Amino acid sequence: EKGGWSSFMAKEVAEQPEAVANTIRGRVQGDQVVIPELDGLDDLFTGIRRVIITACGTASYAALVGKYAIEQWARVPVDVELAHEFRYRDPVIGDDTLVVSISQSGETMDTLMAVKYARERGARTLSVCNTQGATIPRESDAVVYTHAGPEVAVASTKAFSAQITALLLLGLHMGRVRGSLDASAADVVAELQELPEKVAQVLADETEHVSQLAGWMADTRSVLFLGRHVGYPIALEGALKLKEISYIHAEGFAAGELKHGPIALIEPGQPVFVIVPSPRHSALIHSKVVSNIQEIRARGARVIVVAEEGDAAVLPYADEVIRIPLASPLLEPLLAVVPLQIFAMALATAKGLDVDQPRNLAKSVTVE
Ligand code: F6R
Repeated sequence: EKGGWSSFMAKEVAEQPEAVANTIRGRVQGDQVVIPELDGLDDLFTGIRRVIITACGTASYAALVGKYAIEQWARVPVDVELAHEFRYRDPVIGDDTLVVSISQSGETMDTLMAVKYARERGARTLSVCNTQGATIPRESDAVVYTHAGPEVAVASTKAFSAQITALLLLGLHMGRVRGSLDASAADVVAELQELPEKVAQVLADETEHVSQLAGWMADTRSVLFLGRHVGYPIALEGALKLKEISYIHAEGFAAGELKHGPIALIEPGQPVFVIVPSPRHSALIHSKVVSNIQEIRARGARVIVVAEEGDAAVLPYADEVIRIPLASPLLEPLLAVVPLQIFAMALATAKGLDVDQPRNLAKSVTVE
């Protein structure tokens, strides 16, 4: 039930601190990640030479964040493949390949077919799923459940946060098993425990601000989203949420692609969200994104930045600044996505749309 909320989506966005906390619970021992469901399955991770993460839609954006996490901690190459593209060519997979599928419902036909195909080719399979006993986990060698609780709204929100959380845990678990973690991993494990509170802080601090912003933009016809590193999948997710529930044209780009084409789209008044990576992690990446902001601003874009608290470098060029708390690079997506979800929801509401039941979409796509 919706409780006191105006929509399931509003309720599920608000439940994200819990979704993250419940997904972490029971999977941290001291300063290490130990996922009990993977007990005795070390050989899934030790004998492999590559990982392919396969999924559709929002889950495929969580997969892109997972790629960064698994490569960083488990030191194994990771590719992300849309499930519906995966088996319609002749992919190079075998028993040295771990195919990780991600699905909220566990019933998405495209993803299920990709998993079956991978198994037939001899790959090892692991499912990240939110629905106990669903078809995809049953068809996989192993499963790591996300514990977001049932997601009713068609547009995925808390399941996405739980998927990213599970992939961070999987990366740290794999890294431990493979012996590839460095000393900084223990700090990240400690920081995981603070995540639910940080997500709650973004909700508390930015819901009203971002909703107001959306209210002013109800007539907007197109919104662009830029991000770099793990901010890139968040840009893609911000754009998808807006398309799905507010029927506004939206596109996400890797910020570095701007000058290779998309900058031609910028005209005066064009709203552009920019996910700014923390300057504490890489001054170079941060400065590159700030110069992207300058470039679009010089062409008249209306720039809305999502930046960490205290990042003053963005102030001279931003029309609006949305703040997120400080976090490690791979944890930032969990904070940056929240204002984008709120924005899409508020804009759809301002247009008088039903955010839970967008046109033409079903919660679970059980046909190919
Ligand atoms: C977007 C959305 C879809 C799903 C996709 C995969 O808000 O909900 O893009 O993420 O259809 O669904 P699952 O995760 O159930 O396989």
